[in-house]
Amino acid sequence: MADNSKFACAAKALTFVERGMSVGLGTGSTAAVFIDLLGKRNREDGLDLTCVATSRASEEQARKLGLPVAEFQEIDSLDAAFDGADQVDPKFNLIKGLGGALVREKIVDYRARRFYVMVGEDKLVKALSGIVPVEVIPMAEEHVRRELVGMGASSAPTRMDGGKKFLSDNGNFILHASFPKIADPPALEREVMLLPGVVDNGIFTSRNVAVVVGKKDGTSRLLE
Ligand code: A5P
Repeated sequence: MADNSKFACAAKALTFVERGMSVGLGTGSTAAVFIDLLGKRNREDGLDLTCVATSRASEEQARKLGLPVAEFQEIDSLDAAFDGADQVDPKFNLIKGLGGALVREKIVDYRARRFYVMVGEDKLVKALSGIVPVEVIPMAEEHVRRELVGMGASSAPTRMDGGKKFLSDNGNFILHASFPKIADPPALEREVMLLPGVVDNGIFTSRNVAVVVGKKDGTSRLLE
């Protein structure tokens, strides 16, 4: 996705932020553009927001911009969350988590009254397929890998970071399970969750989603 489309969807998403809101901040390059724009608007207009972040990186970025960041535990409800995605199907099922923050993203995004997904047109697909990130407790890594392959993944390598295994913000490993075809995303989301040692997976099927699509020419549209 070119920078223009990221900016286009982030700028459109920003129009849904209202004064006094509690706002979930996503993770990834598109969410980073949104957080920058939100910080700027907050400086200009004083939005009186309460923000919660889905990763240490997003929290740090928000704090630097002067956005007030609270612990998720401290708030009772969340008005809106703004996050990117890796794929979006016509029913607004998503694959997320290639940025490594899927667990905190799901905790926050599912609980928002409205979850604005910001993507370029290239992320809209007819059916989800390919890499589904799965966060696992390290001692279950090999067992979960075998079980994912038993469920139809062609492979499920551990995500690496240089020469070492990537560690999530929660201190866990992430398996990149490759599913050539995902016929029933809600079923796969549930089945992967049932594997002991899995913390969560990158199939998102919550029904609070609105999709903000950015185009390379800088225009955007909202799908609801
Ligand atoms: C982070 O863990 C992910 O869910 C991202 O939101 C997703 O990978 C999209 O990232 P980009 O906005 O960088 O494409």
